[in-house]
Amino acid sequence: MKLRRLTTAMNLRGKRVLVRIDGNVPIVKGRAVDGPHGRIARSAVGMNWLLQRGARVIVMTHLGRPEGKRVAAYSVKPIARRLSGLLSTKVKVARSVVGADVEKAVRVMQDGEVLLLENLRFDPREEENAPSFAEALAKLGDLYVNDAFAVSHRAHASVDAITSELPSFAGPLLHDELSVLGRLGAHSKKPFVLVLGGLKMTTKIPLLERFLPLLDHVLLGGALATAFLVAQGKGVGKSVYEKESVAACAKLLKSHADKLALPTDVVVVRSLRRDAKRKVVTTDAVHASDRIVDIGPATVKAFQEMLGSAKTIVWNGPLGYCEIQPFCHGTREIAIAMASRTGKATTVVGGGDTMPLIESLGLADKFTLLSTGGGAMLQFLSGQPLPGVDALTL
Ligand code: 3PG
Repeated sequence: MKLRRLTTAMNLRGKRVLVRIDGNVPIVKGRAVDGPHGRIARSAVGMNWLLQRGARVIVMTHLGRPEGKRVAAYSVKPIARRLSGLLSTKVKVARSVVGADVEKAVRVMQDGEVLLLENLRFDPREEENAPSFAEALAKLGDLYVNDAFAVSHRAHASVDAITSELPSFAGPLLHDELSVLGRLGAHSKKPFVLVLGGLKMTTKIPLLERFLPLLDHVLLGGALATAFLVAQGKGVGKSVYEKESVAACAKLLKSHADKLALPTDVVVVRSLRRDAKRKVVTTDAVHASDRIVDIGPATVKAFQEMLGSAKTIVWNGPLGYCEIQPFCHGTREIAIAMASRTGKATTVVGGGDTMPLIESLGLADKFTLLSTGGGAMLQFLSGQPLPGVDALTL
């Protein structure tokens, strides 16, 4: 896939460039939680490039799911503060998303200035992909840049409909993510290992259907593996899993049992508390009152061995209940095992939940790609089109 990109040959001085980023990060005590490899930090690269060329940068993002209403807790102000630090310039926040006020704020912008529009999802027309909203946004700019891979699977006005209104380009973050992900497939070096965790199996089935013929092993953890254990007829006590995916898991176990690596032992607790007593049991011995919260040490060892010789590794979703740190041990070990393949294998990790963990382990530079997208990565790798991205192809 060849994407249309902004080039150094273009005169961008004084041009109003609308840049769609994905600034959807957790907000804690009014601050955007975004490390040096976070979504906002990485989108700053493209914005800096534009600012150095004298463009007037109008940034657009969503934050959370305010469902078409103005909700103070979802204001983009914390994102503006984070961006101000990253871009070394004061990033102003427009009072609204579109409309006369915003048009006025754009009119007074100087070259090299940045304005952040309020949360796109405050306007219901964003998620409706409404042409009227795309037109209102397009009035604010001369050019449009999509640098928001993580939301590119949504057919929303600022991703999709807007590309019919303005000359549209792919930003560097979108370009880099798509170029690494686009190379995964039939030509990927083997052994090719997929690591899957998290809760939802339904969103991962299309990916498995496409990739299973190419894969050597699929390492399963998290609530997703629990659904497979249920499909095998094992007791899982009070563990959380997606009930509607059990039938699909049973089908996969029939067709590809040789490739699916399920946990053989798990960590169980009686309550989801940090100080809960943890016990390691085999997957045949989970008690009716137990909750599975992590993969066990024998499983970690078996997974490490399979990763140790892999030449291509793709990982999506935590292998334990990582919201509580002691239940994240298996996930941490897998992150370390995967990072140690640097230089010997192509290593790709996606999903917002694993990013902070990888940063806290100091491993963020150790992967071929730390994708900013979870759902977007799954959709792209499943072979489904990403709305809006087609319009950026040459
Ligand atoms: C994400 O966090 O995955 C993206 O920002 C998309 O958010 P959404 O799932 O609310 O559309």
